[in-house]
Amino acid sequence: MVKIQNIAVLTSGGDAPGMNACVRAVVRAAIYHGIGAYGVIDGFNGLIKNQFKKLDYHDVSNIIQRGGTILGTARCPDFLHKKERKKAFINLQALKIDALIIIGGDGSFKGASIFSHEFDLPIIGIPATIDNDITGTDYTIGFDTALNTIIDAVDKIRDTASSHHRVFLVEVMGNNSGILALNAAAASGAEEVFMPERNEDLQKFEEKLRRALAANKSSIIIVAEGDQIGGAKEVFAYLKDKNLSDKVRVAVLGHMQRGGSPSFLDRLNATLFGEQAVVELLQGNTNLYIGMHNNKVIASDINHTQVKSPPKNMDYLKIIRKLSVY
Ligand code: F6P
Repeated sequence: MVKIQNIAVLTSGGDAPGMNACVRAVVRAAIYHGIGAYGVIDGFNGLIKNQFKKLDYHDVSNIIQRGGTILGTARCPDFLHKKERKKAFINLQALKIDALIIIGGDGSFKGASIFSHEFDLPIIGIPATIDNDITGTDYTIGFDTALNTIIDAVDKIRDTASSHHRVFLVEVMGNNSGILALNAAAASGAEEVFMPERNEDLQKFEEKLRRALAANKSSIIIVAEGDQIGGAKEVFAYLKDKNLSDKVRVAVLGHMQRGGSPSFLDRLNATLFGEQAVVELLQGNTNLYIGMHNNKVIASDINHTQVKSPPKNMDYLKIIRKLSVY
């Protein structure tokens, strides 16, 4: 085991449900191993601006169930500049912090990896984003809760859709990935899904909708925010152009998808990932990110993360369509 005096943990990028559970696991695991723990406020910004909070056992009590992140988070373009990274390192040195754990997305890992190489500082990444768009892990923290939130919202929208025999274009997040949309569509019983990874045949879609509307049937169409048409409003504009929009409504779910109490799976993964990150540091490992593959916690080279596209389970699309032939 390597001797580590203090570690710092930060959350970076978009908040994701389960980040708090992960912070708790990191802090408690560190304390268990006799390591001091600091939380960094507002992601990499806090490193640069010297905003740290010493975290003791009870500072992370009662947060496992809370959405968002108690540490605050930010996207931090300043960290791209070497001068700012140098400031961050000086701040870490002053507190005798000799390792860093970054809970965030792919972009956050890239900055952290550069930092680690520049200053020979051990770092471990933990993937947390509702987008689940990072290679090398089956799940990122937040994905499962966001899916449950979407499904819950679609269930509610369905009440109006079926009562009024309407079509709802439900726009979901996901950045440039359709993983969230695809899984949400399969699990909410949607009739169609638009994703960034696919160029859909709009004419076929139009025909399918005409058949559904002629039969007074409601439909749920999940549209990923990054889809090739330009989101739900653009799909609506296309249908309007075809005189097909009377019974069509748009619901953009937005940031509600990032909020709320984390699900069982997100709390569990966050806890396992957080504990493993501390263990990796103690074993003298660095520049790794933790993940889950085939239900096993794994650690991979942080420089090998890429945005995963297309989703591995693209075959869901065939099933979605098979189950909604009209
Ligand atoms: O990465 C998470 C995510 O919610 C994406 O799905 C979305 O495109 C983006 O963040 C929105 O970012 P912001 O909250 O900065 O507008």
